Parts: sequence; structure tokens; C-alpha cells
Amino acid sequence: MSPKEWQYDELQQTGVDYTTFEEVQRYDSRMQKLRNIKAEINSLIEFVSPTKESRILEIGTGTGDFAIALSQLSRHVLAVDASRVMLEYAGRKAIEKEAGNIEFCHSGFLTFDESQGPFDIIFSQLALHHLPDFWKSIALKKINNALKPGGKFFLKDVIYPAGIVDFESFFESIIKGVKNTSSAELAKEYIIHIREEFSTLDWIMEALLKKAGFSILEINVENEIIYNYLCSS
Ligand SMILES: C[S@@+](CC[C@H](N)C(=O)[O-])C[C@H]1O[C@@H](n2cnc3c(N)ncnc32)[C@H](O)[C@@H]1O
Repeated sequence: MSPKEWQYDELQQTGVDYTTFEEVQRYDSRMQKLRNIKAEINSLIEFVSPTKESRILEIGTGTGDFAIALSQLSRHVLAVDASRVMLEYAGRKAIEKEAGNIEFCHSGFLTFDESQGPFDIIFSQLALHHLPDFWKSIALKKINNALKPGGKFFLKDVIYPAGIVDFESFFESIIKGVKNTSSAELAKEYIIHIREEFSTLDWIMEALLKKAGFSILEINVENEIIYNYLCSS
């Protein structure tokens, strides 16, 4: 079926540009330095408990580390992303790590192939904010439909706490903190995120998840704005 004219074009790039190999390479080396990817993988595994039989979908896989790690513990992983360059980069990593049961596909939250499901586990990290809120709600319903009954959905994203009264000082202090503790380059990325991407408020995200049919099992917040939601369908 051809896409409707009013359909949000999620494969166009919004915010930080991941359409060149150099940008993706820079993103990967920054993330490897900044994040403890191994620890994040372990906590993701604890959250979603994959088994050798699990069929898994990751949306917004980026450079593929999480999809590759989970493919080693499960039957099959479908990893989708809106950036062809990210997918090519992740695909090379998968070959290096001899991950054979992983499939990369150029699609996204609104366009992934549901017929490849139902999935036992779906997860998405730091990617849903690329969609405006209305389209987030459509995406979350599609994710809920693609899960087996009782299947797990793990969502990590940048979310703004509604309790903040003065957002101007809040953002300024976050940007200053990133500049001091990390780099000016990352601070620039935060600025683009706040200005151009669609991170939403905590109560909106909770309502969107519930309206889409999820039960929220757990919410953890890291560094004030990184929210982790563990849900079941
Ligand atoms: C900040 S990166 C996060 C990558 C990875 N999940 C991680 O945790 O490192 C955001 C990713 O989402 C992808 N993306 C943007 N819009 C998307 C969409 N509508 N559907 C799927 N992926 C999308 C980008 O191409 C990029 O790879």
C-alpha cells in the first residue's frame, strides 16, 4: 500500500543529522566514551529477560550494540532504523561479532513490518523523541499490537519532568553541566535536541503508554531527564 499524503515522514532526518558515515562514527565513539554500554546491556537484559526462543524487535537501533548483544541470547532480532548509514554501520558490527540471527531493516516506529511479529520483546532507546506526540501515540499502539500478549516493551528516552517550574534555568544548567563534564560537542547536541526534537513531558508519556494499552511495570529516571519504562502488553 502506498503511504498516505498526510502520513508523517519518519524516515526524513530531524534534529541531529545521522545521514553521513562520519557523523555516525563520531556518535559511536562519543557514546562508547560517555555511556557504560556493557552495564546498559546488562540492565536491559535484566529488564526484558530474553530466552533462546525470544523474537525481538529493536526500533531506532543506531549503531546496533544492543540488538547484537540480545541476538546472542535469543532466536531472532529485527533491528530497524530511519538512517541507512546507521544500519550499514550496525550491519558491519554484526558481521564482526558473527551475529547471524539479526536482520537490519530501513524502517521505523510507524513503518516497521508487523507481519514479522508477534514479538516477545520490543525495545527502543533514545529514539522515540524523533516523533511528535500524536505520532508517538500511533507508534505505541502499533508496538502494542505487534507484541505477544504479556510481551515486554522497554522504552528509554529523554523526557522532561513536568514538576520543573523554570525550564529556562533547567535547560541552561543541563547544557552547562554537559559542557563541563563531557564536551562542547555533546552540549551542542543537547541544544539541537531541546530546540528541534520532540521530547515530551513525563505525564504525557505515561498517558500515551497507558492509552496504547500498556501496563507500566516500572519507571526509573537517570540524570533527571533519561526515563526508563518497563511495560507489558
Ligand atoms: C540517539 S540515536 C539512539 C541509537 C541507539 N538506540 C542508542 O541507544 O544508542 C537515535 C536513533 O533513532 C533513529 N531514528 C530517528 N527517527 C526514527 C524513527 N522514526 N524510527 C526509527 N528510528 C529512528 C536515528 O536514525 C538514530 O539511529
